[in-house]
Order: sequence, then C-alpha cells, then structure tokens
Amino acid sequence: MPMETANMFNPASKVSKISHCSSMEQYKQMHDKSLKDPEAFWGEITKEFHFEEKVKGKFLDYNFDITKGKIFVRWLEGAKTNICYNCLDRHVLAGKGDQVAFYWEGNDPADAEVVTYGELLKDVCRVANVLKAKGVAKGDRVAIYMPMVKHLVVAMLAVARIGAVHSIVFGGYSADSLADRMMDAQASVLITADAVWRGPKLIALKEIADDALKLCSAKDLKVKMNLVVQHMNKVTAPQPASNGTAANGNVAKKTHFDDKVNWDPSVDVWWHEALSTVSSECDPVWMDTEDPLFMLYTSGSTGKPKGVQHTIGGYMLYTATTFKYSFDYHQGDVYFCTADIGWITGHSYVTYGPLLNGATSVLFEGVPTYPHTGRFWEIIEKYKVSKFYTAPTAIRALMKFGDEPVKKYDLSSLAVLGSVGEPINPEAWLWYYRVVGDSNVSIVDTFWQTETGGHVITPLPGATPCKPGSACFPFFGVDVALLDEEGREIKGEGEGYLVFCRPWPGMMRTVYGNHERFETTYFKKFPGFYCTGDGARRDSDGYIWVTGRIDDMLNVSGHLLSTAQVESSLVEHPSVAEAAAVARPHSIKGECLYCFVTLTEGNSFEDKLIAELKNKVRSKIGAFASPDFIQLAPGLPKTRSGKIMRRVLRKIAVGDKDFGDISTLADPSIVEKLFELRPKESKK
Ligand code: WT7
Repeated sequence: MPMETANMFNPASKVSKISHCSSMEQYKQMHDKSLKDPEAFWGEITKEFHFEEKVKGKFLDYNFDITKGKIFVRWLEGAKTNICYNCLDRHVLAGKGDQVAFYWEGNDPADAEVVTYGELLKDVCRVANVLKAKGVAKGDRVAIYMPMVKHLVVAMLAVARIGAVHSIVFGGYSADSLADRMMDAQASVLITADAVWRGPKLIALKEIADDALKLCSAKDLKVKMNLVVQHMNKVTAPQPASNGTAANGNVAKKTHFDDKVNWDPSVDVWWHEALSTVSSECDPVWMDTEDPLFMLYTSGSTGKPKGVQHTIGGYMLYTATTFKYSFDYHQGDVYFCTADIGWITGHSYVTYGPLLNGATSVLFEGVPTYPHTGRFWEIIEKYKVSKFYTAPTAIRALMKFGDEPVKKYDLSSLAVLGSVGEPINPEAWLWYYRVVGDSNVSIVDTFWQTETGGHVITPLPGATPCKPGSACFPFFGVDVALLDEEGREIKGEGEGYLVFCRPWPGMMRTVYGNHERFETTYFKKFPGFYCTGDGARRDSDGYIWVTGRIDDMLNVSGHLLSTAQVESSLVEHPSVAEAAAVARPHSIKGECLYCFVTLTEGNSFEDKLIAELKNKVRSKIGAFASPDFIQLAPGLPKTRSGKIMRRVLRKIAVGDKDFGDISTLADPSIVEKLFELRPKESKK
C-alpha cells in the first residue's frame, strides 16, 4: 500500500480485512479478467442467480461503431429470467422470508415500520394480480409517482414480475412533467399516493397526478387505472401543521391535509381495497434477458427528456455486482441509501442492488434537516447502519451546521461511506471522512449516470487508496478512455472527453421510442465509443478525476438539467421574448441556475415578473429546477451566425470580467451592458 498522506487515504483496515476485494492486485486481476474474458467473468456471476433458461446464443454481442451500422448491445442471448423472482422468491425459498428487507423510517421520527422479504413478496404478488386484472401485460408501461414508502418498491417489483415496464417519475416533478413522461411512454396505468410530507411541506401527489391525468386525456391517452396508496392516515403531521407552500412544482393548492382527495371512480382505485380482493400468489413471467425492465427519463440537451431504457439481464448482474463490491456488502450489514427511488440511484441502489443481494436496508421518507439537522445521523445510530450512501449536496448542506449535530450520535457502526451525483469537493470529502466516519471508514466516490445503470468508475472500499475528489478506477467490465477533441486517445496523464470503449452489462440499450436519438447522443461524436458527456483528467498515478459536464447540462444538487429545458419553460411566459440559462457555482447545490431574459415590447422587469418566471420553471419542470437568479437582458451575446456565446454568460453570472475573445460577437457592446445589469443578490 502507498504511504498515507494528506491527499491519499488507505482503505479502513476493518473493511479490507473482510473485503470481497482486498487489494489493488486483486482488483487489477479481476478487472483484467473482466475485459479479457467477459463471458468467464460474468458467467461465473450468473450462477448466483436464477435463470429459467440458460444462454443459448452469444454471451455478448454489440456494435459501438456508428459508421459500421446500427448501435446495439446484447448480453446473455436466449437466457430467460425474472428480476423480481431474483430479488424476492430466491431469498424466501432459501429460508430468508423473515429477514428484514427494509426498515422504513418516516418523515417524522415517530413513524417507522419493518418489512420482511416474505411480506414484500406477498404484497408484490397482490399488486401484480391487480395489474393483471386490469389487463396490464408484458411490455405495457406503468407510470409510478410515489413517495419513499415500501409501496413504491412493491409497485416496481410487481410491474417487473409480470414483464411490464416501469416508468418512475420523481415525486418532486410537476404535473406537466409527469404528463409529458406518461405521454411519451404511453403509460396505461398510474400508481401514486394521496400525499406525503417532505420535511414540513406537503406534496399533494394525488392532486398533481389528477392534473397530469387531465393533460393526458386531453391528448387522447387512455389511462385505465390510477392506483392510489392511502398514506396520510398512517403518518404523523408536522407540528405545528404546515401552513407554508407546497413543495411541488405546482402553486400550492392545499397547505394542510384534510383526509379528502378528489375521487374519480372511473379510474381511481384505492390500493388497500384492490389488494384485499386478490391472491398473494402470482407466478413470475419468464422474460428474455434483453426485454425492457424500465425506462427512466433524464434531461437531454435538446430540452426534451429522454426515456433511458434498461433491460433485465445485464442490469440485474450489474447492479447486484456493483452493490456487492462498491459497498463491500456482507450479510449482517445494514445499508442506508438516502436517494429517492425516483432517480436512478434509488432504482439501482435502494431497490434492485440491495434486494438482489438479500440485503437489509433503511428506506427513508424524509429529508436530512427535518425535524432537526441530525436526522441522518440519528437514523444511522438507530439501525446501526454500516454502509451509507448519499450525495455531496447533502454533505455540504449538513457540514454548514458544524460537527456537533453529528457528534451527538454513536456512528461507530459505519464502515463504508458512499458519495454520488457530482464531483465531491475535497473539503466535503474530508469532513465526511473525519467527522461522519471518525477517520475509520472507507469512502467510495462513485461515478455513474442514469445511462450506465450502475457504478462505472469507483474505488473499492477494501482495496483502493483514495484521493479525495477522484472517483479512482473503472469497475469490472468497464474500459475507460480519454479522447481529445479530434477523437485521439490520450494515454497516461491528461484531460479530455470521458468515454467507454465497450459495453458493460448494465448500460442502457436505447432511448424509448427513439433509437436514433440514442445513437446520436452517445455514439456519434466519437465513432466506436460511448460518450458520457463528462470531461475527466487522469493523473500520473492513473486516477480518474471527473471534471463535470461538457455539454449544455448543469447539475443542481445532483440532478441533471438541460439549459434548453429551462429556456423553453421561460419563453412560454408571454413577457419573455428570449431566454438563456447557464450554470453558476453554488456552495451547497454544486451548481445553480442563472437565467437571462429578453422581454417582449412594453414589459418591465419587476419583482412580480421574476417571481412569475421562477414559478413557470417550477410548474413546467419541478421545484428543484427553480432558478436562483434571473436578470434582464436587453440582448444576448450572439455570434453572427446567431449562436449564443454561453461562456460569456457564465462569466457574467459569476461577476468575472475576463470574457476572453468576444470579437466574433455580432454586437460585443452587449456584454458590458449585461454585466452592469447583474442583480444585486448575485454580487455576494
Ligand atoms: C451525471 C449523471 C448516477 C446517479 C446520479 C446522477 C455527474 C454523478 C458523479 C461523481 C463526478 C458525477 C456526472 C454524470 N456525476 N456522479 N461521483 N463524480 N460527477 O445521475 O442524473 O444521470 O447524472 O452526474 O456529470 O454525467 P444523472
């Protein structure tokens, strides 16, 4: 092992002692094997899972080179399986029916529930039977819009059990966003809940879902059923009851929950009523490994979200294996991932990865700062969590309160701490390590994307000496390269486009309904490679440092947004003629939105308009996308061909006058004008 220095941290010995991969030699050997002989490497892993039929065709077949024809990736051709069976039945049949699958911890510390594998399986079968009775069959899309409750896990697994395709929409999205996604997927069923408390705020999910369903029916989408979980009668309301605004993208209609939801008997069905009438047994449908498992929408640089589609077999092997190695999971661990299942992190590392490993996890409904800023730490102490996974934005937000709220709790059970969503700054890394981990843990900074399905660059906690801020090395099966602008590979030290040279089992297979978009987004720029859209640097020790997006995307609190998506929301306002959005660094969110708006004739730039514009973005996308700054722009810095020079706007957003060459602008004088019009709050 290298000597531990101020910027190099060895794995915690309590982790490496028992680790599945306990040295860099072992990592290198396994990584080499995974590339030299993928069939031998992943073939061994398939033995841990149930396949109803074995591989009959090629173990791996693919084309990554767009100049040679259609892009495709196929793993385990001809094999048949069911991921729900592998998550649940397999463990129950092995006698683990009474093992805890989830400790559900509510928004309010008074609310908690324990769910075993056996109970999960029964509920999954019931929901599967309800769906089947409504005519949902293999390949049909089911939209899910739910809080962090066990029913969400049950819903997704029930959909998977019958071979349908889930499309989960994060509960913070607005009615418009939900409707857009349901339309794109042509979902025939929606599963939601009455409402949920997130911290002190109410999210009236059913109301938002009703609005979305109206939008869908106006566009002729026939939704057969809206299956509604009754949740609010089981949870403790914030004290005193909230009278703030709702936390969703819609303008608050309700500020307290009165136990009544609008009900349309032609579509609405209560979950508990439907489940009471069906059997708790349901045979799984045996699926081809390359059949779709789910789609999950992610931002695209054109502004229209892409339905990232994952398939069953490869995703199953990959989420299970990354979960096992990246967190060094062992029986007896209690694992806690704070991500919402509505994002890919929750799909892969709250539901599938842990359940495929038969793990025991915490499922947390609330937020890190409610009812107090020690909420995460309180939960870790309560359940003796050993593996914890959260986002840099949460770490930075909690760091602000100092060490004291952490030190109040006994966190000695912790062994591995994970980070995901954006580059973690070394200051946050060190605080996580020293204060939360008491300098006796391994930190794993896991780099991946909705598209990659699971971790693609990550330290292994028993093996990799870490440098704070670096995601370190590729996971098994992942072949990383850095390319320069001309597509030449940069060997050794250097910085360039982060690409992957061949498929790993968990990668996406297509964009739902638009394979061409899949090809052009990820494979066109550099034929022969999957292009992540991120830049990265390799240092002299071979460590990879992901430097962030190099396209028109920004990352707000770990959530990707495209500037185009925000701009098209802003120009929907009648007073806005044109808009440009850029990212500005933010001490907690990582990045925030800074928008420039050109107004239509006769409108003045007032606080009321600014509030309306912020609301417009909230209602079109969701609250998390709300801009921090909006400034007036009499004009935008455009080249003679009409392209907005965004790098100049990014400089103005941070108050930096070092604009670089602006001689190619049609009207260079606009830059100075925009600089003067910066809002006061932005100058802090
Ligand atoms: C983008 C993907 C993967 C789950 C959450 C986000 C950034 C993610 C890291 C990391 C540096 C990271 C990248 C990536 N990102 N993790 N550990 N270090 N950057 O999923 O919404 O698909 O976003 O998040 O820019 O491309 P996503």
